[in-house]
Amino acid sequence: MRIVLIAAVADDGAIGVRGDIPWHLPGDLAFFYRQIEGCLLLTGRRSFESPQGREMFTPDRSTILVTRQPNYQAPAYVRLARSVEDALTWAASTGAPRLCVLGGADIYRQTMPYAHELIITHVRAHFPQADSFFPLIDPAVWQATWQEYHTRDARHTWDYEFVRYEKVEKIRQDDTTYNANAI
Ligand SMILES: NC(=O)c1ccc[n+]([C@@H]2O[C@H](COP(=O)([O-])OP(=O)(O)OC[C@H]3O[C@@H](n4cnc5c(N)ncnc54)[C@H](OP(=O)(O)O)[C@@H]3O)[C@@H](O)[C@H]2O)c1
Repeated sequence: MRIVLIAAVADDGAIGVRGDIPWHLPGDLAFFYRQIEGCLLLTGRRSFESPQGREMFTPDRSTILVTRQPNYQAPAYVRLARSVEDALTWAASTGAPRLCVLGGADIYRQTMPYAHELIITHVRAHFPQADSFFPLIDPAVWQATWQEYHTRDARHTWDYEFVRYEKVEKIRQDDTTYNANAI
């Protein structure tokens, strides 16, 4: 199972403010929904309850919600997990080829060590009022393998850039496999 973290992250690392996302970028939203097609989804309880979460986590999307609350009342189509490890174990047991981790900050931080890929929309702005942040993307661990830049326009207040990162070790392993097969 491939574990993919998907997030929109400002240049200062901001991803949220007071339980919400501090920008509205329709181009990013459309891109985001394409990325999660056919994905098993993983969310923290606070993001699930956020305004975006209420639109995103619908019955047609298989979702795992992580909470420590023993009596949390979730809709019937949502699978509850009591820890991140339980969520990952259960996700793997379903045979799903791809798990999309959709935040928030707490969940990104705990799942990043297990991730194979990051799909990040870099919002080219700073948000000093932010209170939720994405973990550092260490260039020694993560290598950009694809990017696409979008300049601000009438519908987008800020420039934004889609970047796909893959774990460097994973890329090296793939190279080795590829070379071995080629010989
Ligand atoms: N820009 C983006 O791409 C993006 C994406 C997603 C979210 N966000 C933003 O991020 C912010 C929310 O992030 P957040 O860090 O506050 O919350 P979060 O990561 O969405 O959820 C945190 C909650 O998840 C549960 N949890 C976390 N770790 C757990 C563990 N190991 N075991 C069991 N349960 C665990 C706890 O729920 P209980 O308290 O119920 O126990 C915890 O309070 C919002 O502002 C949201 O809009 C931004």
